[in-house]
Amino acid sequence: MTQFPSKTKALSEIKEYFQQKIRQVDQWLEQLLPTTEQTPATIHEAMRYSTFAGGKRLRPILTIATGEIFGAPEQELLPVACSLEMIHTYSLIHDDLPAMDNDDLRRGMPTCHIKFGEALAILAGDALLTQAFLTLADYSTANAERKVRVLSEIAHAAATTKALIGGQVLDIQFEGKPITGPMLEEIHRAKTGALIRCAVRVGAIIGGASDDDLAALTEYGEKAGLAFQVADDLLDEIATSEELGKTAGKDAASHKATYTALYGLAGARQMADRLCEEAMAAAQRTGKETQLLEAIARFIVERRS
Ligand code: IPE
Ligand code: IPE
Ligand code: MG
Ligand code: MG
Ligand code: MG
Repeated sequence: MTQFPSKTKALSEIKEYFQQKIRQVDQWLEQLLPTTEQTPATIHEAMRYSTFAGGKRLRPILTIATGEIFGAPEQELLPVACSLEMIHTYSLIHDDLPAMDNDDLRRGMPTCHIKFGEALAILAGDALLTQAFLTLADYSTANAERKVRVLSEIAHAAATTKALIGGQVLDIQFEGKPITGPMLEEIHRAKTGALIRCAVRVGAIIGGASDDDLAALTEYGEKAGLAFQVADDLLDEIATSEELGKTAGKDAASHKATYTALYGLAGARQMADRLCEEAMAAAQRTGKETQLLEAIARFIVERRS
């Protein structure tokens, strides 16, 4: 692995940046989600329970960090960033359902269906997805064309073709089945990569990035997105449930098609590191101030949770 002299500094700086942005994202989410005073209270409780259970807020932070490079206004970045967190949280609630990965621990708390029952968990996922698009429809901007473009980007990433739901379908279908490297990459790019790529792209679009910069950052987002799921596969094997806030060792027990199952721990580690280097190189192609994005790429593969 290439050693960067500023690595330690970058990782401590990024911690502070994350803390600050998590606070900001949470304040906006607080405003954007229906309150528990509104009826039916239980659905709003369930939506809020899973949203505020914790979480790294990586997708919104990627949107904000990318947008800030181009001087994008906070009033546009934050609602878009929060809509991505709503979609991500919905995907986690559904991913944990008994019919899918059947998990009872998420973000260090009982999963939504354990706490509220399966019906409410399904509906809370549906509601968060819907609330995301309500948020995207309603935020104010002087640039209506750009807003429709952002909306389309997000809808594509959450949909079925090379996108979140399609990836989840393949993930389930390949449980316990032999898989090739290219097929596994396709699943990971779709179920996890698409939303991360999208988070970077919408930040750049809101900031009015040039086509060249958008292309470079799209590559950054693709590499970082794939690296994120490779690291998730690794962590499932090497981290503890306590560190992860979700049950460790689930993938092997469920015979999931993962990078560690196909390439071993060392092979997966190497791939994650290579993807991280490639993501950083892609970001640097913009010639802009991308140190933070580079540090986020490193965080993605070095994290323990
Ligand atoms: C977990 O995502 C699910 C995957 C896409 C691998 P995160 O690791 O970002 O989960 P939170 O948001 O921090 O809980
Ligand atoms: C989940 O992948 C991806 C999405 C939620 C779209 P995983 O099933 O590996 O995520 P975890 O490990 O349960 O967080
Ligand atoms: Mg899953
Ligand atoms: Mg899962
Ligand atoms: Mg996983």
